[in-house]
Amino acid sequence: CAVRFMNISICGTLIGMLKQIAIDGPVASGKTTVGRCVSHALSWRFLDTGLMYRAATWLILEKAVSLDQPKEMSAATAQANMELISCGETDVLLVDGVNIMRELRTLRVEETVSHVSKVSGVRKALINQQRIIARQGPIVMVGRDVGTVVLQNAPVKVYLEAPPDVRAFRRYTERLSDKENSTLEKVKLEIGNRDWIDSGRKESPLYPAKDAIVIDTSSLTINDVVRKILDMTKL
Ligand code: C5P
Repeated sequence: CAVRFMNISICGTLIGMLKQIAIDGPVASGKTTVGRCVSHALSWRFLDTGLMYRAATWLILEKAVSLDQPKEMSAATAQANMELISCGETDVLLVDGVNIMRELRTLRVEETVSHVSKVSGVRKALINQQRIIARQGPIVMVGRDVGTVVLQNAPVKVYLEAPPDVRAFRRYTERLSDKENSTLEKVKLEIGNRDWIDSGRKESPLYPAKDAIVIDTSSLTINDVVRKILDMTKL
């Protein structure tokens, strides 16, 4: 991303001692792309917490744990060792030492992840791991509950949003380039369904933290959003 070379001056002026930026938002709001660019610009680590929920989902499906057995789902998640390693431009999530990145964007994981994410024990296990990762140094963390639950004291909190149609179109075009077989209508339905589950669940529902800056990304470029966030980190 174009802004990655701005790091030196910005890094020195970051608010407070806690070097944490929390970015939340619904499906395809731009948080992963933007978060990664912000982390590059600041030379901080990046954690996409969605990957951890996807990894837990993959594990649960692999182990054939039934989705109506919350205790077993939670145990499978808590027993897994998730490790984040940086690999050039991308980060790789290792589960029990195995790189499972290719498995995480498949349709079966996509269709199941919001159901797994509702389970309290699954969330507890993953939030615990996310906080451990955050304690290891400056980090940009993205997800659904980073500002509201995981890093409540983060000095910079951002909530990205865009209307469902805009987000569905983005996800649809991404899938076209991945050569995945889908239609815009199907993607709209899937996004609507995930939004509904993520916002309506009892545990850590998706909503902007009280102290988050809300940014509508529909008519902004990635660089516009990245610059806005970097500006927030200045004194
Ligand atoms: O961001 P991504 O689409 O990869 O997230 C996949 C799913 O993981 C979300 O739809 C949500 O159900 C769950 N999730 C969550 N809390 C987070 C991150 C993701 O519940 N912090």
